[in-house]
Amino acid sequence: MAATSAVKLTSTIIITLFLSATFIPAGKSQESFERELSRQEMGLGRQKLSHLHFYFHDIVSGKNPTAVRVAEAAVTNSSVTGFGAVVMMDDPLTIGPEMSSKIVGRAQGIYASADMNNFGFLMVLNYAFTEGKFNGSTLSILGRNPVASVEREMPVVGGSGVFRFARGYAQARTRTFDRKTGDAVVEYNVYVFHY
Ligand SMILES: *[C@@H]1O[C@H](CO)[C@@H](O)[C@H](O)[C@H]1NC(C)=O
Ligand SMILES: *[C@@H]1O[C@H](CO)[C@@H](O)[C@H](O)[C@H]1NC(C)=O
Repeated sequence: MAATSAVKLTSTIIITLFLSATFIPAGKSQESFERELSRQEMGLGRQKLSHLHFYFHDIVSGKNPTAVRVAEAAVTNSSVTGFGAVVMMDDPLTIGPEMSSKIVGRAQGIYASADMNNFGFLMVLNYAFTEGKFNGSTLSILGRNPVASVEREMPVVGGSGVFRFARGYAQARTRTFDRKTGDAVVEYNVYVFHY
């Protein structure tokens, strides 16, 4: 009897120690809210470098615009650049320059006129991909877009899904701009490190 109890007690202690070891990281008090992780624990393999190429359709005219002005400066004479104007977009991203080509995702977010003297938009947006291995994953862009320049570069500041831990940059080139309607097609080359 005594031997059985001792065995039971020992297994209880072992189980308790095992559970403690599992849930309370060694060397940290129970109050701690952080711990250092190894890459292996997170399942992070080799870092990959991906190149994404697509076309962004900024449709501001017609019955179904995908980019709409949601705010502007109360003082309309602030500048020639429309300084203060804020546009919310849900612009389609397609594989080819034609709107009829396959949609691979959407650019969702804001662009706003942030430069009083030259065209310089603040871009705050997520590319939400809907195709292939990137379906359901996002990349976050935060940068300055001098839209009158031939080539613009904006940082990729992060991502989700397959793009967790992402960093990189996006290069934009306007392919077509309709002066009458304001609609534009922009070619994007995005270079991104991720796991
Ligand atoms: C706008 O304001 C600036 C500075 O206050 C002034 O120099 C300029 O003439 C104004 N422009 C217009 C179109 O009223
Ligand atoms: C992308 O993912 C969504 C949600 O899981 C799914 O409904 C959709 O069919 C997927 N699209 C493609 C092209 O795989």
